[in-house]
Amino acid sequence: MKITSAEFVLSAFDEGQWPRGGLPEVAFLGRSNVGKSSLINSLLGVKGLARTSGTPGRTQALNFFLLNKRFYFVDLPGYGYARVPREVRESWGQLVTSYLAKREPLVLSIHIVDSRHEPTSLDLQLREWLLAEGRPFLTVATKSDKLSQNELRRNLARARQVLRVVGDGSGGEVVAYSAVTRRGREDVWRAVEEAVTASQKSPS
Ligand code: GTP
Ligand code: MG
Repeated sequence: MKITSAEFVLSAFDEGQWPRGGLPEVAFLGRSNVGKSSLINSLLGVKGLARTSGTPGRTQALNFFLLNKRFYFVDLPGYGYARVPREVRESWGQLVTSYLAKREPLVLSIHIVDSRHEPTSLDLQLREWLLAEGRPFLTVATKSDKLSQNELRRNLARARQVLRVVGDGSGGEVVAYSAVTRRGREDVWRAVEEAVTASQKSPS
């Protein structure tokens, strides 16, 4: 997909701030510091549109980016960062779970895991929750540039096992990604384009 415009629109701290207008949304989800914002920037081929940081747990709002004036990317706060105060963790839970449960324009979630590490129980919980909610999603294992080909192959197999990926087409694969080399970019774009296009076909 050719991106002709990409703009940051708003940070939402509560539901009332979610954009109106019903344009389709693609959400980016994963552990704190896993590389969500970097994935967004590398997909768009820009630096610094989504804010990245070495400090986990920075993003505490839902950040909306409007692309081609046609659909949104939504950068969600990361989970599982222990040093975030409990009240913040709870408000994270509420922000993200209510978004995932209720948001009608959400057409695809990109679930990001770290290719170097075994997926955590929170990764598995999120996956099972997406499946239970019937939310279409794609699992992406990022930071693959930090591994050798052999390590990557082993880790992808382990991730599939831990996440109980069955290859049924509904989030049934784990795509290797790197924001540095842009490996996997085409696979992710294909999924995004399909989801956005399908949602914009006018009902006949
Ligand atoms: P929070 O918003 O704090 O939850 O973090 P995030 O998930 O948005 O992660 P972010 O994109 O800020 O990246 C965290 C760190 O990982 C940064 O130092 C990035 O430069 C680094 N990083 C992200 N993706 C990659 C990648 O594919 N390869 C490498 N080598 N580093 C990466
Ligand atoms: Mg971020």
